[in-house]
Amino acid sequence: MDKLSISKLLKPFNIVIDNIASDKSISHRCAMFSLLSNQPSTIQNYLRGEDTMDSLNIAAKLGATIEDHGKTIIITPPEKLTEPDDILDCGNAGTGMRLYAGLLAGTEGSFVLTGDKYLRSRPMKRVANPLRDIGAKIDGREDGNKAPLHIRGGKLKSFKYHSPIDSAQVKSALILASLRGDEPSFYKENLLSRDHTERMLSGMGVNISTQEDGWIKINPIKEPLKPLNITVPTDPSSAFFFAVAAAITPKSKVTLKNLTLNPTRIEAYKVLEKMGAKITYIQTEDVYEPLGDIIVEHNELHGVEVSSNIAWLIDELPALSIAMSIASSPSTVKNAEELRVKESDRISAVVNSLGLCGVKFTEFEDGYTIEGNATLNKATINSHGDHRIAMSFAIAGLLCDMEVEDTQCIETSFPNFMEILESLRA
Ligand code: S3P
Repeated sequence: MDKLSISKLLKPFNIVIDNIASDKSISHRCAMFSLLSNQPSTIQNYLRGEDTMDSLNIAAKLGATIEDHGKTIIITPPEKLTEPDDILDCGNAGTGMRLYAGLLAGTEGSFVLTGDKYLRSRPMKRVANPLRDIGAKIDGREDGNKAPLHIRGGKLKSFKYHSPIDSAQVKSALILASLRGDEPSFYKENLLSRDHTERMLSGMGVNISTQEDGWIKINPIKEPLKPLNITVPTDPSSAFFFAVAAAITPKSKVTLKNLTLNPTRIEAYKVLEKMGAKITYIQTEDVYEPLGDIIVEHNELHGVEVSSNIAWLIDELPALSIAMSIASSPSTVKNAEELRVKESDRISAVVNSLGLCGVKFTEFEDGYTIEGNATLNKATINSHGDHRIAMSFAIAGLLCDMEVEDTQCIETSFPNFMEILESLRA
């Protein structure tokens, strides 16, 4: 079990970072969506984290040829997806398992999706149930709620589904399943969740549109899609650790390069701005989505209430909690019950770890209040195998010394995180 010792940062930094990990959500989708074409897809800057390499390996087990040229990966799909002679291992990735479940539910063959012990304990009925309702044959532990999941793919029905959860994973699984129907399908969520699937599939030729009443209409595909030709942008969720580092370190500034500026991904930056940090957004391009740089500068931080647009900042709440701890007034996070079913129970992991650092808090079923005004003290933090908990408390270590245990999980999304963290001291 790897352990990191982070020492306090003794002086301000002003740094431009252009090597933050590529976007995890977009990389997973590149591996999967390239299987829907009949021509090679060209992907630059594919994320070489464990989660997304697992998705690429699954694409290969389904018959794709992967040519790895370093910066560029070329994925050539098979004529027809092949039934693998082995299990498909999604590692730690909920996105991998839930999206592949949607894709494979409509693909002829027998497939077993599994993952590590954390993924095998996460709820899958949010995708298994609506997929079963349209004819998918899915089974697993707890009546299909826990992996390993066995999927016998075949013909699926078109559907009209209003999801009770604002989840890009559920939405994407259902959109992938709808592509094989005979008639258009309709999907609705209460708050638009991250929309990479809609943008990328539309770019590949799927006729998918959001109607005025919020229903997404997806027309089934009659022929193979155009291939992807994409440079994966920097992951704003990974970059956010360094946004918090700048926001909490007096006189510091960070320029984060080449991020996706998709509005469903940068809400945490808006919250940090509301807390007092100085933030500048510079859009430079628009390829599938708006792309550009974000500059974050330290300023006095004050407390904030976060109770809306939760799906747009769910992954950044652990890192935000570090900024909330030193803010001059209390902060509250509400309506965030989804945090309990992430890579760990992030409500419990965040507040109990902050508690070990001397921060006062109140825990609710769907969030927490962090009292603020804290001077953090050194603690030994267990990541619970959750990359975002490990990296959030490594950032907290810039304020005080910190030990973080069980940090191998950082490899799932941000392999060079420690290298960049150490470069702040240069
Ligand atoms: C993701 C969607 C979100 C997010 C996860 C990645 C995706 O999960 O938390 O890290 O790539 O679709 P939910 O769909 O469960 O909200």
